[in-house]
Amino acid sequence: MVPSESAAASRTSSIQRDIQFLCDEFRKYNHINPANYERYGVKRGLRNQDGTGVVAGLTQVCNVHGYVMDEGEKAPVDGVLTYRGVNVADLIEGCVRDDRFGFEEAIWLLLFGRLPNRQQLEAFMEILAAQRDLPPYFLEDMLLKVPSRNLMNMLARSVLELYAYDPNPDANGFEDLMRQSISLIARMPVIMVAAYQVKRRAFDKESMYVHDPRSDYSIAENILHSLRPDKQFTHEEARLLDMCLVLHAEHGGGNNSAFASRVVSSSGSDTYSAIAAAVGSLKGPRHGGANAKVMEMLGYIEEGVQNPDSDTEIRDFLVKLIRGEEGDRSGLIYGMGHAVYTKSDPRAVILKKNALKMAAGTPIEREFQILDAVERLTPGVFDEEKGGNKFICANVDLYSGLVYKMLHIPAEMNTPIFATARTPGWCAHRIEEVLYGGRIIRPAYKSLTRDQKYLSMEERP
Ligand code: COA
Repeated sequence: MVPSESAAASRTSSIQRDIQFLCDEFRKYNHINPANYERYGVKRGLRNQDGTGVVAGLTQVCNVHGYVMDEGEKAPVDGVLTYRGVNVADLIEGCVRDDRFGFEEAIWLLLFGRLPNRQQLEAFMEILAAQRDLPPYFLEDMLLKVPSRNLMNMLARSVLELYAYDPNPDANGFEDLMRQSISLIARMPVIMVAAYQVKRRAFDKESMYVHDPRSDYSIAENILHSLRPDKQFTHEEARLLDMCLVLHAEHGGGNNSAFASRVVSSSGSDTYSAIAAAVGSLKGPRHGGANAKVMEMLGYIEEGVQNPDSDTEIRDFLVKLIRGEEGDRSGLIYGMGHAVYTKSDPRAVILKKNALKMAAGTPIEREFQILDAVERLTPGVFDEEKGGNKFICANVDLYSGLVYKMLHIPAEMNTPIFATARTPGWCAHRIEEVLYGGRIIRPAYKSLTRDQKYLSMEERP
């Protein structure tokens, strides 16, 4: 070892020793027995005893319908997702029928409450295009100088950094909320692609491509245009990505990231802090990060199962996953389960149909079949392993990663695309919270501490 390497190694091991010492100290006095949650009637995860969510607010933005109550019990139904009352399946169908990009009109619908007419939509596309540019040297100063392996981290940091470029960042008046929301919605796709290019250059030692967005392109087209070295894509590819953006644009006030943005907004904090908090929430593998985890899980299944056509083998592997003996050992089958949906997640149904169409006859069809088996077999495995009365169905993340793979979008962009798509939803919730919430969100925690006497330094053991 050269001297500087040996100094670094010795510093690392001394830090490890220090951390071990601190962790041991923590373990001596800290433990919460899970039984206490029931004992004190804690609504763990803000869920009622029957698994329904605690009602924490009112919203006009979106409705997620996943069950009906029948004689006090949850009865499963097919899920329905509506943006401002419009069924998302109808929104998608309308765009397919007219061969029109839908994400911009979904943004308008979410922010303002009605579908835009042709003139409104055209004006909105121009407004978004005019707001897309990043501040001068943003890419060089904010991304290139401190790159990160994780694109969600770069997204969250970029959102916070945009605060510094806003002449009036703390203003919470309605016009300011609108100005900041439109600017973030327009810039998020650009930041996402720039973050990916920077990561490629800094960590993968690959070339970086910086293609300016085109004002005549939709957001979906611009993502593919700026992502690909040759800027080339087909209309079908852009339409499929657009469908994914529409399907991920919003999911109710109680979803973890929207609620995170509402919590921060309710304290009177600024737009950039609220949206960065939402990005941080979405990054988690139980939330938006699940789409990347599904692809990782698919890899584990492909490696661990000899015959992927055998339901028995896949089933056995799922048992090991749920027991935490395989995969990332979290015990989760990613892409399965949802806090509200029981029988089906309408976004997964739509994505699956389109993924199947695109995968048919390609090498990816095999991976599609494995995920289909995961969807079919997980409820039985879950029932046997966990019991209880939870209904488990495929969620949007089960098939989205595969769709992105078919679009040649790198796996590390799966969750950032979700964040880009969800920004309008977060902004709509933030606006609602600031305008109508009127209370700081402040639930209670039952304290389990016992009194301890203050001891002077000399008295401490
Ligand atoms: N795989 C394995 N176990 C699961 C599971 C899954 N996909 N989904 C739920 N469970 C388990 C929970 O871990 C919990 O187990 P425990 O009682 O032993 O702690 C039990 O089922 C009850 O879960 P519950 O708390 O009612 O579920 P939830 O409504 O809080 O969970 C999700 C919703 C989405 C967070 C959960 O289903 C999950 O983690 N899914 C995998 C990640 C994922 O795909 N997320 C994307 C969501 S769009």
